[in-house]
Amino acid sequence: MKTISVIGARPQFIKYAPLSKELHKHFTEKLIHTGQHYDYLMNKIFFEELEIPEPDYYLGVGSGTHGAQTGDMLKKIEEILDLEKPDMVLVYGDTNSTLAGALAASKMQIKIGHIEAGLRSFDKSMPEEINRVLTDHCSDLLFCPTQTAIDNLHKEGIAQGVHLTGDVMVDASLYARIRAESSDILERLHLKSKEYLLATVHRASNTDVKENLANIVEAFCQLDETLVLPLHPRTTKQLKHFGLYEKLASKVKLTEPLGYLEFTKLLNHASKVLTDSGGVQKEAYILGVPCITLRDTTEWVETVDTGWNTLAGTNAEIIVASVIEFQPQKHLANSFPCGACDRIIKTMEETSF
Ligand code: UD1
Ligand code: UDP
Repeated sequence: MKTISVIGARPQFIKYAPLSKELHKHFTEKLIHTGQHYDYLMNKIFFEELEIPEPDYYLGVGSGTHGAQTGDMLKKIEEILDLEKPDMVLVYGDTNSTLAGALAASKMQIKIGHIEAGLRSFDKSMPEEINRVLTDHCSDLLFCPTQTAIDNLHKEGIAQGVHLTGDVMVDASLYARIRAESSDILERLHLKSKEYLLATVHRASNTDVKENLANIVEAFCQLDETLVLPLHPRTTKQLKHFGLYEKLASKVKLTEPLGYLEFTKLLNHASKVLTDSGGVQKEAYILGVPCITLRDTTEWVETVDTGWNTLAGTNAEIIVASVIEFQPQKHLANSFPCGACDRIIKTMEETSF
């Protein structure tokens, strides 16, 4: 079988890394990189650290409005699919690169496999929610990380091709945890294990709305514990645009975006994490780090239901109170078992259309 994976943004490089090795062993696999993320620290560093093979096609699409970015990807992916004629296109997660890959393949009647299918926040103001729903509805194989994801798909009438495979990020995260220990990031940032907080912020609703970003900055500045915040380029740009950067920098340890190993080490040794990232909520759970989510909804409901994640939204008082008061359950349920890559490959091998 000939497969083509379409990736383009930071979390997709991380999801692709463990699966890529298996795809190359079992199939004729090619890689399209849309270029949605392009800075060295948002892109190349992951290929180097995680030993991801060079993409066969780099589309160089870059940043833009949703329509321009997705449209440009769609046009370019279609040309490659026409040339390569794969049996299946694999798409990952919920970004504009995911949707473009799925749309291009579906219009050409090429089978689609969606890794991380069935996730729902039930918040249609999130661009990712639209990408998830549309991608799932044109996919032929839906690789679900959890039973909740399967149930979500069933409620939307999708039952065929749905498989409970687990989450590829578990494989990625556990592998990184071991390799990350040799990093000297704690020493470089003058941090002691379990004596600091880690944060990430990049969600459109938190960075593009001045009031929300200002509330988050206010909360971060009120915290007593040392806080480390590796900044997504979108957030740096918006902090400067809204005149909030200096205030934040005076209180919080700001860094550039970090590579996966350094970030995993920081997360593993943090006392708590504050984040609006999907991937970081899940990794916090996998590594047993209490998580305060800077959103009102989450698609990773198991992390909340089992008592390891709390939704604090963007109210400064609630964020500060959550950092002080939130204590997870002592027992960490294993909601995300490892081995997803093997189960995905096996499902692909056993499926005949
Ligand atoms: C995208 C995804 C989001 C995912 C995130 C992972 C969509 C709609 N959003 O959001 O689901 O959680 O990636 O990080 O697909 N920029 C740079 N350098 C880069 C990349 C981006 O400076 O290498 C800046 C640009 O100003 C750009 C902005 O960040 O306009 C936003 O980038 P974009 O890829 O559109 O969305 P993300 O916020 O990264
Ligand atoms: N991450 C990283 N360096 C950072 C911040 C995050 O390597 O400075 C990793 C993190 O461990 C997780 C992934 O990036 O695996 C999450 O990506 P992001 O938060 O950008 O997107 P989301 O998961 O919200 O789509």
